[in-house]
Amino acid sequence: TSVDRCVPKEILFKFLVIGDYGVGKTAVVRRYTDGRFSSNYKITIGADFSMRTLQWDDCTKVNLQLWDIAGHERFGCMTRVYYKYAVGAAIVFDLSRTATFQSVRKWLKDLREKLSLADGEPVPVVLLANKCDIPGYSVQPEVVTRFCKEQGIQAWFLTSAKTNVNIDRAMQFLVERALQTR
Ligand code: GTP
Ligand code: MG
Repeated sequence: TSVDRCVPKEILFKFLVIGDYGVGKTAVVRRYTDGRFSSNYKITIGADFSMRTLQWDDCTKVNLQLWDIAGHERFGCMTRVYYKYAVGAAIVFDLSRTATFQSVRKWLKDLREKLSLADGEPVPVVLLANKCDIPGYSVQPEVVTRFCKEQGIQAWFLTSAKTNVNIDRAMQFLVERALQTR
């Protein structure tokens, strides 16, 4: 039978990690690619990228290139350059700072204006409500769910780069969507 045979495939996906400064984009990427966390804040200048390879199934290897984009670049003219050829995006906000949730709309707008897939479809997006380890956050889950529905964001996760909550799941989701849309 042909069931147990396959042609080994290796796929490269470029994903973006965007959102306001200080929300934890670098921490999320570091947690995911390196398994580590640091509480020292070192601002990202411009953009950085990190890789992680996933053995997706017996035949498919996925090389993920995560582009960690500086929060202060929001209105900069560089985002268009950084966004190029990306096939997925994680938008991050900080649950303990409501204003960073309000900015998600602007990040999404910037993304949608500057980037779409080769067939013109919008790139898959996942929303990360980060720092869920900090108790007493003010952004309500129902509000996030409603916002995602309105904006066509396929999924959102409560995450913590610090305590390693849902980072893998969120990225897994994005890989699945990217595999479906390719
Ligand atoms: P820019 O590079 O300026 O755009 O910021 P950023 O989004 O990359 O933020 P960064 O990852 O540098 O994190 C900012 C601060 O928040 C750092 O002090 C991190 O240690 C802290 N931080 C990040 N993620 C978490 C988290 O899940 N929980 C907690 N408690 N702190 C976090
Ligand atoms: Mg950073």
